[in-house]
Amino acid sequence: MNYGQLDWGKTNRMAQVFRPNAQGEAHTVMLAVDHPYFYGPTTGLEDPRETILPLVPYADAISPAKGTLVYSLDPLVPTPVILRVTGGNSMTRREELSNEHIITSVAEAAKLNAVGVSISVYIDTEHQAQNIRNLGTLANEASKYGLLVLGITAVGAKLEPMVKGEGEGSADFDAGRYFAHAGRIIQENGADIVKTYFVDGFEEIREGIQTPIVIAGGKKIPEAEALEFTANAIAAGADGVDMGRNIFQSEDPVAMIQAVRAVVHEGLEPARAYELFGELRAKRA
Ligand code: R5P
Repeated sequence: MNYGQLDWGKTNRMAQVFRPNAQGEAHTVMLAVDHPYFYGPTTGLEDPRETILPLVPYADAISPAKGTLVYSLDPLVPTPVILRVTGGNSMTRREELSNEHIITSVAEAAKLNAVGVSISVYIDTEHQAQNIRNLGTLANEASKYGLLVLGITAVGAKLEPMVKGEGEGSADFDAGRYFAHAGRIIQENGADIVKTYFVDGFEEIREGIQTPIVIAGGKKIPEAEALEFTANAIAAGADGVDMGRNIFQSEDPVAMIQAVRAVVHEGLEPARAYELFGELRAKRA
């Protein structure tokens, strides 16, 4: 794990989030539940108390926005929190998603005992300068408190179809090159952890980013496929996942997060992890 020259507080917070296995290799399974900040009552998180509380014991860290944190999480459970602090738009105005601002202050995050703050950074969009300024401002503030900054490589409405291989220009779009470019800019402007996507050309992303990398899960896909891409991402050098919908929208979220943990921390083969998912599910039925 490369923490660069982080100070004592940030190093200690990193160690809370990235947990070592028996071989001493540190990885993380973060539970991403920040979606309502721009999706509203996201499927599976309509009442997050029902969904999230049984998952928290299996998460190395949890990344909600403030509303979900204070209304749905038990302050007595010591799972580290990486608080979503940017916003400003909603899915109903998709084309303006990249027009983000810092909504929750670092002082508020520290008061809520977060170990870090997360921010979306939309590179190659019309608001990229504003997004990079948000990141720099957040990094300067977070540094005063020793809080970690998780920089999320966000794609706006225009780039999203290309990333998914849909629409005009997508055949020439090099997702690995794009995320390598965006992720490195996010590192250089103050992120301590970069969150990105596991796409073709991930090697280029890994090669160009020295901070820990966590992988977003993306839209819900079948459990076997989600476990497979998780295993491939870890094998390719990702330091963990920050996964949401593929856990909380699963047929059995508690079984799924345990299967994801087995892949990330124990290196379980994805086929075996899928069997484990089935076994845990049957036991809980
Ligand atoms: C998106 O902006 C949010 O940061 C999500 O936390 C992120 O996309 C990860 O969640 P999922 O695994 O559902 O994609």
